[in-house]
Amino acid sequence: MLNSSEFNHNLLAWYQANKRTLPWRQTRDPYLIWLSEVMLQQTQVTTVIPYYEKFITKYPDIDSMAEADEEALLKDWEGLGYYNRIRNFQAAVKEVREHYGSTVPEQPEAFFSLKGVGPYIGGAVQSIAFNHLLAAVDGNVLRVISRLDADDRDMTKASVQKDVKKRIEEIIPLEAGDFNQALMELGATVCTPRAPKCIMCPVQEHCEAYSRNIVSELPVKKKAKRKNELFYNVYFILNDRNEILMRKQEGTLLQGMYELPKYDVDTSVESIEEDLGLTIDTSGLHIGSGKHVFTHQVWFMEGYMLHTRDQHPDFVPLEAVEGLPMSRAMQKIYGQFEVSDERM
Ligand code: ADE
Ligand code: SF4
Repeated sequence: MLNSSEFNHNLLAWYQANKRTLPWRQTRDPYLIWLSEVMLQQTQVTTVIPYYEKFITKYPDIDSMAEADEEALLKDWEGLGYYNRIRNFQAAVKEVREHYGSTVPEQPEAFFSLKGVGPYIGGAVQSIAFNHLLAAVDGNVLRVISRLDADDRDMTKASVQKDVKKRIEEIIPLEAGDFNQALMELGATVCTPRAPKCIMCPVQEHCEAYSRNIVSELPVKKKAKRKNELFYNVYFILNDRNEILMRKQEGTLLQGMYELPKYDVDTSVESIEEDLGLTIDTSGLHIGSGKHVFTHQVWFMEGYMLHTRDQHPDFVPLEAVEGLPMSRAMQKIYGQFEVSDERM
């Protein structure tokens, strides 16, 4: 990547000719660009597209997002995961409405002070919406840069990522938003994790890894720690009025999402009864199993159906469950219940 002006020209020309038509590339509205980057931060493009389309219809501007009911918002976000993203986004949007007259701040310092805005979101939005000369370093960009520079440092390290950000900001041109998106696009479509298409790469002649024939050795990523395996029993607790016990989660990453009561597999029925404050009068019928992989955890869930005659404030009519926000993990086990329900 020695001659940056030639490198930049080749990369930008390739991007203009080859970029995918994506819905958030049809707008200059900073709020919509921000929304798209929040969705794209930890989720793939193909998954994001239908969510983005739904959100721009239901929450087309700062005011509609600021005024949205949190439960409805979580329901609409359901399936995208990392639910803190949308809660932080709404909090930040409310700040923008209160302190910046509903205009997304064009000064990086102001924008970076908003809730949930870190180096990635800040760099992406400020470059794409306002062409500020800031990098937006995601996984694709780290891979591309590690290969262009034949940089064999551990790309999972925060200090290395900071360096990569500085490295990009030394060469970033005035078309900063297109430049960042071009690096991401190159990583997504050409400089892919496996079998990169170096023969059709627009910056092959600037690529140190290619010229040294070490592309397949990069990027270096220290092995992620093995995921924690957690084993839960999940309870479908029904009463005589066709209601099911659903709990709203508090103080976890899934705050505001609903869940069926779940306990470590070795929790006794007595302590479950005590925890819930009700008496259970059948032993559980096994409903099915579910597995869900999170970033740092794997949940193995076994679902059991129980019955109670007690009252409890958390009972919800069965037909209302569909309208409650639930994590993918919970949906997987709840789906087993629906299947077994249809058979009865
Ligand atoms: N991933 C993150 N931001 C993106 C963007 N603006 N376009 C395509 N993929 C992305
Ligand atoms: Fe990536 Fe290959 Fe292009 Fe180098 S030449 S940037 S390794 S696709």
